[in-house]
Amino acid sequence: MAATTWADAYLVSPTSTGGAPPTTTTRSLSSRRPVVFDFSTIDADSIPDEVWEEVQRSEREEIEKRDAFLKECEQSMYEAGRRLAAKMPSATLRNGSRMPLIGLGTWKAERGEVKRAVEYAVRAGYRHIDCASVYQNEDEVGDAIGYVLERGLVEREELFVCSKVWNTDHAAARVRKACEASLKALKVDYLDLYLIHWPVTGNVGDEVSPSVRETWEAMESLVRDGLVRSIGTSNFSAKKLADIASYATVQPSVCQVEVHPYHRNDALLSFCADRGIHVTAFSPLGSPDSESIFPRAVPDAVLMRDPRVLRVAERTGKNVGQVLIRWALQHGTSVIPKSTNPSRIAGNLDVLDWELSASDYALLSSMAFQMRMVNGGMWLNPRGPYRTMEDLWDEPETEMTSEAFERDLAAATATATDALGGGTAGNTDETTTAPAPQLFSPKGRAKSEARSESNSESHTTDNAARRLSHPIALSPANSSEGSENDYHSVTESPAVPSLTEKVASFSKWMGFSR
Ligand SMILES: NC(=O)c1ccc[n+]([C@@H]2O[C@H](COP(=O)([O-])OP(=O)(O)OC[C@H]3O[C@@H](n4cnc5c(N)ncnc54)[C@H](OP(=O)(O)O)[C@@H]3O)[C@@H](O)[C@H]2O)c1
Repeated sequence: MAATTWADAYLVSPTSTGGAPPTTTTRSLSSRRPVVFDFSTIDADSIPDEVWEEVQRSEREEIEKRDAFLKECEQSMYEAGRRLAAKMPSATLRNGSRMPLIGLGTWKAERGEVKRAVEYAVRAGYRHIDCASVYQNEDEVGDAIGYVLERGLVEREELFVCSKVWNTDHAAARVRKACEASLKALKVDYLDLYLIHWPVTGNVGDEVSPSVRETWEAMESLVRDGLVRSIGTSNFSAKKLADIASYATVQPSVCQVEVHPYHRNDALLSFCADRGIHVTAFSPLGSPDSESIFPRAVPDAVLMRDPRVLRVAERTGKNVGQVLIRWALQHGTSVIPKSTNPSRIAGNLDVLDWELSASDYALLSSMAFQMRMVNGGMWLNPRGPYRTMEDLWDEPETEMTSEAFERDLAAATATATDALGGGTAGNTDETTTAPAPQLFSPKGRAKSEARSESNSESHTTDNAARRLSHPIALSPANSSEGSENDYHSVTESPAVPSLTEKVASFSKWMGFSR
C-alpha cells in the first residue's frame, strides 16, 4: 500500500477506499485541535497505536483546558459588565423609567458585525442600545438582544431599547406598522423609547406632510397601547418641539440631537431642561465615519483630532473617545457612541470613575467654531418645505469655513499658555511640557494628528488573530501570531491572565478581528 500521510487519511472517506478502510482512515483529528506540529509530514502507518492514543488524549485535554479558560473569560467579563452596569448613572424620564446614560450607537454598524458588537456590549455592561429602522441592521441587533435575553445574561427590564420611525412612515397608519416591524426585528415586545427620526417626510410644498401633529398623535397611541414606554423626537429644533408641546397629550420625553464640543447645542439643551425633556447626545465623537453621507463644509475640522481634545486626553491619560464621552456626561446629556470594535466598546464605558477638571471641561466647552456633522443637508429642496438650513434647524447658520476654523485654533493658541499650561494628571512626557503655542503650529498639529490615530487605535484587520487559536496566544502579551510556539510556551509556563487579557481573549473568540 502506498504510504498514506495523516492529512491524506483525514481527507479519504472510508467508502471511497473500497472494502474495509485502513485503520488510518478512521483517525481524524478534531478540527478544534490546537496546532502542535504539521501532521501532514508524518506517515500515518508508521505511528504506533499507543502513540496515536496518546496524541488523542493530549488533544482532548488541551481542548478541555481551552474550553474551561474561555468559560472563565466569559464569566469574568460578564461579572465585570454587571458591576459596571450597576454603577451606570441614568436619567429618569417623564414616566419614571430610567435611561442608562451611556448607550451603544448602531448607525453604520455593519451587518455581519453588529450582532457580535451588541452581544459584546451587553456583556461589557451596556444596557442601552440606540437603533433605527433606517440603519438596516435592526434584525441583527435583535438577534443579539434575543440571544442575551434567552441566555439570561440580562432581563428585558434591565435593557433600554430605543428605535425611530423613518421619514417615509410618518402617516398615522404607517407609524404603527413601522413600530411593529421594529419590535419584530429587535425581538422585544415593547420599546423603551420611540422617536420621530427627522421632522422630514420627503414631500415638497410649504408644509411638512403628513403633518408632525399626525405623526405625534400616532406615536401617542403607541404609548397608550403599550407598544412603547416613552416617545420623543430626534433632529427637532426647540421651535418644533414647542409646537408639539402645544397639542401633545403625551409630552416628548427625550430629544435626541447632535451634541459635542464642535456643536454644543446649548440653546436647545436649556430649552429642554426647562421643559423636563431629556437630551441624548448623538455623534458624540464627531461622527468621523459619516462624512461621505453628510459632506462637511470644513473637512479639516475633525473633532477627535482637535488639539484641545488631544491635549485633554494627554492630561487625563484617557483616550480621545473617553474624553468626549465624559464631556457629554458633564454637559448634562446621555450619550450613544457607536463602535463595533471590542476594545473601544469596552473603553467607551470606562468614564464613570473620573471626571474632567473644571478647566478642561471649560476648554472643551468654549470652542468658537461650531459645525453640525449630521447636518441634514440632504433634506433641503428649493421647492420646500425646507429650503435652507435655517428652515430645517430654526436657527441662523453659523460661519462654517476653513478660515473660521483656523481662526478658532489661532485664538486658542493665543490663550494656550493660560488655558493649557497647568496640566496635572500624570503626564510628564516632553509633549505635555512643551510650550503650548507649539501645539497649534502646523508641526504641532501634525504631531497631534499622529497621536490621535494612536489614541483611537489602529483599525487594521489582523487576519491572524481572527483564527481561533489558544486564547492565551491571542492575549495582548502574545498577540503577534497564534503559532505552535505560542502553544508550547503556554503549556510550559501558564501565566495567570488579568481581566483585561481574559476580555481580550474572549472578544477574539467571539470573532472580532480588530
Ligand atoms: N437620531 C439621529 O439622527 C442620529 C444621527 C447620528 C447618530 N445617531 C446615533 O448616535 C450614534 C453615534 O453617532 P455616530 O455613529 O454618528 O458617530 P460617533 O459615535 O460620534 O462616532 C463613531 C465613530 O467613532 C469611532 N469610535 C468609537 N469609539 C471610539 C474611540 N473610543 N476612539 C476612537 N474612535 C472611536 C467608531 O469606529 P469603530 O466602530 O471602528 O470603533 C466610528 O467610526 C449612532 O450610531 C446612532 O445610534 C443618531
